Amino acid sequence: MTRSAQWTPVPVPAGTDPHTVPSHWFNLVPSLPAPVPAPVEPEDTGDQDAWGPRIALQQRIRLDAVRAQDSASEPFLAIPERVREELAAIGRPTPLLRARALERYLETPARIYLKREDVLPTGSFKLNSAVAQAYFAAEQGVDTLVTETGAGQWGHAVAWAARRFGLKAVIYWAGVSARQKPGRKALIEMLGGEVYSSPSDRTPVGKALLRDGRHLLGSLGTAIGEAICHAAQHPDTRYISGSNLPHVLIQQTVIGQETKAQLAALGERPDTLVACVGGGSNLGGFMGPYLAEKAERGEELLLLGAESASAPRLTEGTLRYDHADPEGITPLTKSYTLGRDYELPETHVGGLRQHSGSPIIGVLRGEGLLDAVAYQEADAFETGRLVLSTEGMLIAPESCHALRAAVQRAVQARESGREEVIVACVSGNGVLDLDGYLAHR
Ligand SMILES: Cc1ncc(COP(=O)(O)O)c(C=O)c1O
Repeated sequence: MTRSAQWTPVPVPAGTDPHTVPSHWFNLVPSLPAPVPAPVEPEDTGDQDAWGPRIALQQRIRLDAVRAQDSASEPFLAIPERVREELAAIGRPTPLLRARALERYLETPARIYLKREDVLPTGSFKLNSAVAQAYFAAEQGVDTLVTETGAGQWGHAVAWAARRFGLKAVIYWAGVSARQKPGRKALIEMLGGEVYSSPSDRTPVGKALLRDGRHLLGSLGTAIGEAICHAAQHPDTRYISGSNLPHVLIQQTVIGQETKAQLAALGERPDTLVACVGGGSNLGGFMGPYLAEKAERGEELLLLGAESASAPRLTEGTLRYDHADPEGITPLTKSYTLGRDYELPETHVGGLRQHSGSPIIGVLRGEGLLDAVAYQEADAFETGRLVLSTEGMLIAPESCHALRAAVQRAVQARESGREEVIVACVSGNGVLDLDGYLAHR
């Protein structure tokens, strides 16, 4: 149970119409049981002094609107009409599918629902935030967006949204995943995006890593460092993030709000919500609107995060201040971390492969609201093949982790004869991850 004695999150109404895009984003920050620890400057800036104060740098290179969202105290933030139109145009609300074939295969009395973010045009939930941030950039008169990407799904979404709003996109991609997925690189380039495998020799951070022989496989962290360097050196460019920060989780709350409306229309109430967790944005967006229900129902509503055993922050890391990049050019933020020197192993699960995560997820886990489980890549792909052979969907390797947790709950329900309602967020499509599936045949 939560460690906070008095905790009264703002309730999110289920809404009466499961067919419309929500009118507001839910700001989960004021509904958390404890404040989100603010970023701080490192005391020892070492030889990275060239970057000056980290927090000031972040303020200079980020979009005004997202900085405002990060410090917003209102529980609901209106979604601009143009963004709502785009969200509808990309296919929101996304379907909520009852996975009956999977239930039959498992012979479980549990009812399993899948929130289908994989059906969006770029193949993942990342587009929800990319569309919002590209809109804000266009409104601000920005010319170019630069970002990092792990699995490539966020980079793909940014390239798509940038094109939609007449912007340029520059993407630094964790080298290991970039090399695994030439098809996604081709797609990003067809959309007009520029892609660089990180560490690269294009930025001081990339050059330092290459020179010292550190993090040569590349990671989300190396790409973050390079994208920030790039923005710092290009005044017409703004740096955007695809996870971790409050505004990204806030922009993803369309997922959870839609799920609530869809379940309410079916007369269902979830017992378990499960999502995979990297930086924490699909989990936060999916579960954030359920915080009030969690406060009311306690352990009767299980919030479960599934992470990769190759980057087990929530199950094996510590909750402390750390940099999000190995060179330390990001401010220190408090979240579960394995340490910025942690050399992440090669894996096909690029979206969950990072040493640290979101401070909001840190609060949820630290306060005892979020359970977590870690899976080996081979086991996650086994579940992916099960979902393909039952439901016919090829889901992203990251999403396979969420589904593995859902399947385990459903098996426990069979053993105890309990009619549990399990809702899993399918964060992405796996067609461009086929090599990962084939590596684990
Ligand atoms: C398909 C997919 N799911 C999940 C994630 C994890 O991101 P987050 O933890 O921000 O939801 C990623 C990240 O790249 C992804 O590509």
